[in-house]
Amino acid sequence: MTATEQQSRRTVVTVSERLVLTRPQEDDLEAVFAIHGDPETNRYNPHGPHRDRAQSREMLAGFVADWERDGVGYCAVSTRAEPAEIIGFTGLYLHTLDGERVFNLYYRYRPSAWGLGYAAEASRAAMAEALPRFPDVPVTALIHADNLPSRRLAERLGLVPDPDGRTDPQEGRLIHRKA
Ligand SMILES: CC(C)(COP(=O)(O)OP(=O)(O)OC[C@H]1O[C@@H](n2cnc3c(N)ncnc32)[C@H](O)[C@@H]1OP(=O)(O)O)[C@@H](O)C(=O)NCCC(=O)NCCS
Repeated sequence: MTATEQQSRRTVVTVSERLVLTRPQEDDLEAVFAIHGDPETNRYNPHGPHRDRAQSREMLAGFVADWERDGVGYCAVSTRAEPAEIIGFTGLYLHTLDGERVFNLYYRYRPSAWGLGYAAEASRAAMAEALPRFPDVPVTALIHADNLPSRRLAERLGLVPDPDGRTDPQEGRLIHRKA
């Protein structure tokens, strides 16, 4: 099957100048495991990298279920040049934080895709697609204080650290919020 044929079997959420964001699907297991099982990509992840495909399968099932339940969620990201190759995941997950319904902005990319502005471009595209449909839901991100690339990206996207230094109750990550 050609890359274009494979891509056409996916549900496109949105496109940007260089990227295509699609709904995660069951056969994305290897991409989920490649990205979430890589120690480098999960250096600041409080749960560490996935140990096996079973963990990735569970995560992927969650991604798929989020879309079915909420009509929004994390997306698989590919370049328009290589649409069959998933380089990362970005999107918005609807959840409850401190009793408030919020979006969690997510980005996790394979190291070969870092430093090219893809995470920023995909995040902007995901927010532009989803936020008009959910205008009252604030965007937040939970970021380990030492994860400087992620904090820099969040701030470039207009998310600022909580002025009172609030952290999430489970993992102690800094709560960032879109102003
Ligand atoms: C966090 C993460 C997504 C950031 O990726 P990134 O590639 O550094 O982020 P961006 O997409 O914003 O790329 C930014 C860099 O690309 C550069 N760049 C190159 N071409 C660009 C372009 N066309 N447009 C924009 N930026 C471009 C920018 O100068 C920028 O460098 P700078 O931050 O030093 O100024 C990445 O480090 C990652 O996946 N980490 C592991 C997972 C993780 O920690 N996720 C966050 C959990 S909270």
